[in-house]
Amino acid sequence: MRQLFAPGADAILRLVLLVAAVLVVGGLVVAGGISRSNWAYGVGVAPTQPVPFSHKHHVGELGIDCRYCHTSVEKASTAGIPPTWTCMTCHSQIWTGSPMLAPVRDSLADDKPLHWTRVNRLPDYVYFNHSVHVTKGIGCSSCHGAINTMQLTYRAHAFTMAFCLNCHRNPQRFIRTPDQVWNMEWQPGADQERIGRALVAQAHIRPGAQLSDCSTCHR
Ligand code: HEC
Ligand code: HEC
Ligand code: HEC
Ligand code: HEC
Ligand code: HEC
Repeated sequence: MRQLFAPGADAILRLVLLVAAVLVVGGLVVAGGISRSNWAYGVGVAPTQPVPFSHKHHVGELGIDCRYCHTSVEKASTAGIPPTWTCMTCHSQIWTGSPMLAPVRDSLADDKPLHWTRVNRLPDYVYFNHSVHVTKGIGCSSCHGAINTMQLTYRAHAFTMAFCLNCHRNPQRFIRTPDQVWNMEWQPGADQERIGRALVAQAHIRPGAQLSDCSTCHR
């Protein structure tokens, strides 16, 4: 009688099962990696907006100050998104016929706010405050990247817990002099560690251990 399976089939079957198992485990490891990756956080991807507002034009080329539009960034927990009226201070005079600006004109005429899609968003269980960071010498670009070069606004960093803690444990590596908070091109110099320590002391920043307490961000 002919054998149903050739000798050695058992070994081949076991090999196939082993390879399958390796693929499954490998796939889980990769999936785990992706869920923690920049891709999962939408880093670098600009969401669609009602108007293609460009920070590159308005900040990089025209040089408008962040605070002209994000009026509460130094005073409150949120930075604030400008109302239609802020756009119309200029666009009632210039580029008045631009089709791209039609939603802005309609918003003013109909007295209905524009609905911008949020770019950065923390989960509800995380507490955040802009004014504390900005007034203690942490620049916008440390968290939002080079906004002045963005044609459409996108996330520059994944706001993972590790991202926050990386600075809370070592603020001296990131802190700047107050005038540099608004500099979107700022990079730490060779002696940042030394200057940073002095600035941390000057700004009365809580020492690393305290700043990384769970209750600082989860209250
Ligand atoms: C002329 C007004 C204007 C100026 C000046 C301006 N912005 Fe904006 N900004 C906007 C508008 C409108 C939005 C919402 C649309 C978008 O996301 O592009 C926005 C969105 C943002 C966002 C994303 C908000 C979110 O949804 O998470 C960040 C971050 C930001 N701006 C940072 C800055 C910084 C930093 C500066 C200064 C260097 C600046 N902006 C200057 C109008 C402005
Ligand atoms: C301080 C003046 C000023 C303010 C405030 C301002 N803009 Fe502008 N905007 C300009 C100028 C100047 C241009 C032309 C830039 C260029 O093409 O060089 C422009 C261009 C634009 C364009 C491109 C238009 C086209 O047809 O190419 C859009 C869209 C736009 N702005 C949207 C907005 C929105 C939305 C706001 C409010 C959040 C706003 N702007 C606030 C001055 C301003
Ligand atoms: C330490 C990190 C950090 C710094 C520094 C920072 N931001 Fe933000 N920003 C965030 C986070 C995190 C969010 C999302 C907050 C949320 O979902 O509650 C955010 C949200 C925003 C938004 C959306 C609207 C809002 O009020 O939440 C704007 C606009 C903005 N930032 C502008 C700025 C500007 C302008 C500066 C500099 C003056 C700045 N940010 C500095 C982390 C930072
Ligand atoms: C580049 C540095 C840096 C990054 C990134 C950063 N922080 Fe901070 N954070 C600071 C500094 C400096 C302080 C001021 C501490 C002090 O005054 O003792 C602070 C203070 C805080 C406070 C205390 C506010 C208060 O009312 O006392 C909270 C909450 C906070 N950060 C949350 C966050 C969260 C959430 C993130 C991540 C999305 C983050 N931070 C990212 C540097 C940073
Ligand atoms: C500087 C701010 C900050 C501090 C301090 C902090 N967290 Fe978080 N935590 C965050 C942020 C931001 C997230 C959201 C991360 C995300 O969306 O991926 C988070 C998420 C979490 C989560 C949800 C699961 C996860 O990992 O995403 C847990 C659990 C957590 N934190 C526990 C803690 C504990 C325990 C401590 C103290 C040892 C702590 N956190 C201190 C900012 C902080």
